[in-house]
Parts: sequence; structure tokens; C-alpha cells
Amino acid sequence: MAPPDEPDTDEPIEVASPVCYAHEFEQMAPPLAAAELIAFLNVLLESERAGARVLARWCHEDTADAAIDGQTLAAVRDDEARYCAGLTAHIKRLGASPSPSTGRFYDKAMTLSAWPDRLRFLDKGQSWVARELRDKLPRIADRDLSAFLQEMLERHEHNLRLCAAPG
Ligand SMILES: [Fe+2]
Repeated sequence: MAPPDEPDTDEPIEVASPVCYAHEFEQMAPPLAAAELIAFLNVLLESERAGARVLARWCHEDTADAAIDGQTLAAVRDDEARYCAGLTAHIKRLGASPSPSTGRFYDKAMTLSAWPDRLRFLDKGQSWVARELRDKLPRIADRDLSAFLQEMLERHEHNLRLCAAPG
């Protein structure tokens, strides 16, 4: 018999890794339950509201040293506002109440004055939204909502490239 730290050649070798099982599990993940879906949409709504409010402030400030212009920031603000409206409409259509709150992203963003810090923070927030959308989209069965969130994901990926912090 082989010592415990050496492979026993008579034993079959296990080739499947836990990662393979995790992938299969993800593919089989069930659709989000109604309450879970509404909670997710409300977190997105609060985040987009925070983003729209932050960009509404920043797009009017001097961006000379920002490596980005106010017009670009205003366009991203408009996207965020559009997603607030869309998420609100979907939440109501699903028979629930849209959250009136603003995500904590806003208060934190308001403490930042240097543009590199602001853009890095914006990147962090938008990346979080994109990650959440990528993660949850396969579990959303409602076709209209899925199409809306898919467009929202693609737009966030586009805006992430536009607003990338230098360095
Ligand atoms: Fe956003």
C-alpha cells in the first residue's frame, strides 16, 4: 500500500473539481422568488438614484483636471435617471412599491473632492451594479424585465469604459 502522501495507483483518480460542480449549480439556479426579485430591483433603484444625484452635482463642476468632460458626466447622469424611471415602472408593474431611498453611495461620493478619487469611486459603484446584473440576469424569468436589465448591463459596461479613471 502507498504511503498516505503518495497517490495509490489502484485508486481511480477524481478529475472533477468543485469549480465544475459550481458551474453546473449556477446553470440550474432557480428563478428569483418574487420577494427576492423586488428587493433586488429596489437596491438597484436606490443605487441608480444615488448615481444620478452624484452625477447631477459633479457634471456642473470644473472638470479641467478630470480627464473627462461635464457633457459625458451629464450623459451618464441621464442614463442613471432613465434606469430609475424604468426600475420604478417595473417594480410597480410587478405589484410592489418602489423604494424612496437613495443609496449610501451618494453620501460617500459627496466627501470626495479630487477627480481621480471621484472617478475611481464611480467606477467601483458602476462595476458593482454591472456585477449584480450579470449575476442575477440568468435567474430572471420575466422577459420584459430581463430585456430592460440586459440593456442596463450593456449601458453600464459602456459607461464604465467612458468614465475609466486614469492610471
Ligand atoms: Fe448606475
